[in-house]
Amino acid sequence: MALKDVTSEPLPVLPAREDESHKGTYGRALVVGGSRGKAGAAALAGKAALRSGAGLVTVLVPRAIQETVASFEPAMMTVGLGASNCDELLQEFAPEIKELAKDKNCLALGPGLGTSASTFRLVHSLYHHVEQTMVVDADALNAMAAWSEGLKHPSGSRILTPHPGEFERLTGEPCADEARVRAEQAAALCRRDMTDQTVVVLKGHHTIVTDGSRVSFNQTGNPGMATGGTGDVLTGIITALVAQGLETWEAARLAVHVHGLAGDLAAEKLGQVSLIASDLLNFLPEVFLKMG
Ligand code: APR
Ligand code: MG
Repeated sequence: MALKDVTSEPLPVLPAREDESHKGTYGRALVVGGSRGKAGAAALAGKAALRSGAGLVTVLVPRAIQETVASFEPAMMTVGLGASNCDELLQEFAPEIKELAKDKNCLALGPGLGTSASTFRLVHSLYHHVEQTMVVDADALNAMAAWSEGLKHPSGSRILTPHPGEFERLTGEPCADEARVRAEQAAALCRRDMTDQTVVVLKGHHTIVTDGSRVSFNQTGNPGMATGGTGDVLTGIITALVAQGLETWEAARLAVHVHGLAGDLAAEKLGQVSLIASDLLNFLPEVFLKMG
């Protein structure tokens, strides 16, 4: 199947905010991630979801880091699972997480999640049994790389956001240097779900967004964004746009643009060298303002 390049087509837009609206109108987002030493990853995703317009954001983390995550942002709700010394989300929490997912419009799974065998089994359970749209990133992608049956039959729409290293682990093949070939590789990954419900965001300079039949090459962003945590911010932005009602393909395409533009504005003011992931959060308002 030939991939249609829609890079030059207009970007999707967020629905206008109506006077007669409330938090619920803009969606409930749930970020599932974090582990001791990686509390910031989950917090960055949660804060990015808030700054990108989600009505309510909950960050679900292991109990040991709940207070730390909560302290980053008062507008963010948190849930801590496990005993007080629980450092990582484990498979046994799957029923509780599924219950919490029920009234959410979108989930993000992976930022700072950790890599224990039990956590990897949790990812398997959520990928296959949560019906809500799910953005799958970071350690959740590393978990998926070990699945012998591949990525078949998720129970809902999925947006996978690998960087090239995660992509290579997921597919077992090296990322091509040539953009067009790389896009074909990303599209092939979409098609592995057997359900036509997966969008792949293959990150890098000119991030690739594809749903298996269309591809868009992002035109914003700069090397100042090559710094830890910027990917977690992107995950939060995508999650918020899905929560507000955009289709997965639209949400991924717009989010990647917004994220890069926040990076470009941040680099203009602060320089590429000093740019850090939390700076992107501070420039998101300017990006959304500009877009109207
Ligand atoms: N030009 C434009 N954009 C760039 C560039 C560049 N040269 N370099 C990086 N970026 C953007 C990417 O497009 C992507 O959106 O910055 C983001 C980096 O995302 P990740 O590679 O996921 O990095 P990070 O956020 O640090 O990941 C945090 O999650 O994926 C794991 O192993 C990773 O532990 C790490 C954690
Ligand atoms: Mg990442």
